[in-house]
Amino acid sequence: MAESLGDLTRTHYCGELRPEHVGETVTLMGWAATRRDLGGVIFIDLRDREGLCQVVARPEVSQVAHDAADDVRTEYVLAVVGEVAKRSEDTVNPNLPTGQVEVEVKEIRVLNEARTPVFPIEDDIDTSEEVRLKYRYLDLRRPKMLENMRLRHKVTMEIRRHMDEQGFLDVETPILAKSTPEGARDYLVPSRVHHGSFYALPQSPQLFKQLLMIAGFDRYYQIPRCFRDEDLRADRQPEFTQVDVEVSFAREETIYDLMEPLFQRLVKLLGVEVPRPFPRMEYSEAMERYGSDKPDLRFEMPITDVSDELATLGLLTFPDLIKEGARARAIVLPASGGVSGMRLRKINEEVWLGRIVPDARGSKRNLFTLKATDEAIANLVKKGASEEVARRMLEKASAGKGDVLLVGVDQPEPVSMAMGILRLAMGRELKLVDEKAYRFLWVTGFPLVEFDKNEKRWVSVHHPFTEPAPEDLPLLDTDPGRARARAYDLVLNGTEVGGGSIRIHDSALQARIFKLLSITDEEARNRFGFFLDALQSGTPPHGGIALGLDRIVSLLAGEDSIRDVIAFPKTASATDLMTEAPSTVSDAQLRDLGVIAVRK
Ligand code: AMO
Repeated sequence: MAESLGDLTRTHYCGELRPEHVGETVTLMGWAATRRDLGGVIFIDLRDREGLCQVVARPEVSQVAHDAADDVRTEYVLAVVGEVAKRSEDTVNPNLPTGQVEVEVKEIRVLNEARTPVFPIEDDIDTSEEVRLKYRYLDLRRPKMLENMRLRHKVTMEIRRHMDEQGFLDVETPILAKSTPEGARDYLVPSRVHHGSFYALPQSPQLFKQLLMIAGFDRYYQIPRCFRDEDLRADRQPEFTQVDVEVSFAREETIYDLMEPLFQRLVKLLGVEVPRPFPRMEYSEAMERYGSDKPDLRFEMPITDVSDELATLGLLTFPDLIKEGARARAIVLPASGGVSGMRLRKINEEVWLGRIVPDARGSKRNLFTLKATDEAIANLVKKGASEEVARRMLEKASAGKGDVLLVGVDQPEPVSMAMGILRLAMGRELKLVDEKAYRFLWVTGFPLVEFDKNEKRWVSVHHPFTEPAPEDLPLLDTDPGRARARAYDLVLNGTEVGGGSIRIHDSALQARIFKLLSITDEEARNRFGFFLDALQSGTPPHGGIALGLDRIVSLLAGEDSIRDVIAFPKTASATDLMTEAPSTVSDAQLRDLGVIAVRK
């Protein structure tokens, strides 16, 4: 039965007690993590936000308290009054910050009972994520989860401090908004007052922040929730948090100079120093050398083009493939990695079966391996290859003696991406990734638009408000696919943690871009009329960036999934397993909203 808190006031957190508290009478409140009865003496590990502390109920100190302790079960909520005592030498627990002391119980109140938890409240559990999410309030009691949420709080506070010190105004923008295109589907909210009309939850506050620049706010930031109905992965949630930033009279450098010190401060929270300036890389180089627009620079293993060599090596059908436009791209596995012949055959098989390279399944992609040894080269020569070309190919890729060259052959884009994925998989498998490192990289020079084969039109790579590189403006009419954008992504350890651009501030150029994207004047008016009008009302040059807060915290916490740094995340199918959202609503509610639901 639950007892009342009465007149008790907590004096300390459980995790706070140290030898200097010995002799003090303290009042603790928390959850019973464990209870043990050792020959009539009852030991309870009491847990709260700040840690664990051992409390001891001895019948000779208080029979009433001892009897109460006897009834305690795991996860009961207790108030404990007692005296802090030094533990005897042989019972000191060096693994616990409070391990030198314990609390001799004088009084225990059971503030609440608890059902037996469905999984143990400890860090190393092998409970499925579904069960953890269904009972998230229990999952969040686990020290690691609490630590993650505490880190998130610290990161947010540090960001707010930095932005405030830099003169930014925190401005809230609407959640019930009008759809702005960021590439994903919108979450829609029906209007009760205007049947048939819908608000869109913001995919980002993009237009609002630009309007704040037009309003003269000069420096805006916000930590807004954004909503995108898109396919989910470990680093994507349907609702997620951005650190959204916009600056007037900004060039790319202005944004880099604001963000780099911010990230220095964030990694400093973990005691890590990173040098400035952060390296920069053109998108084309990132794709060419690392097969990714977000290269993980914690290890090297660059990709080398060996198409010319493979075309003249004299093996199989490679020359024909290359003549047909395929490219050969290679990575080098170091001899020290000790990749065996069997493992190589397995890699080849896995690539074919699409395990390492998911999208390789069924494609004509080919993987070819060559070990940099005289014997392997001799074997190749027996099959008709030229020794000179084989050696040249190894040299071009900087393969040393005993290293293994892995060469993928396919059309330029798929082979780059495949080798990029293979590079990451091999880097991890051969333990080349320095798990402690924080490697930042600005990726710049993205294409402005790409051709959408399904929609048969050009679509923005970043978003339609991004300014084209001035020197590429003539390409908009002749070869838009080659025009570069004034956009930049910030990459940390192979994850895109932020993206932004310098914006179009000239309404004529904005109209030209809408035209390029096949957005008719009428459509542009309907969707963005307010914005086009605003652009003509004295718009300063401006630019900004949005950071993915969940991703940043998960990288700093060393978690693989952003779900582990979000208190109440959704599953890959965008459901909340605990509350069971989304759920059906009553017909009356739908009628009110003027909505007809098609139920499956
Ligand atoms: P962008 O779409 O690149 O840019 O988003 C910015 C950053 O937000 C994070 N992010 C996500 N995080 C978790 N789940 C998601 N579904 C998700 N989608 C994006 C990423 C990404 O780098 N308005 C522009 C910014 C600008 O131009 O200023 C924008 O939203 O870390």
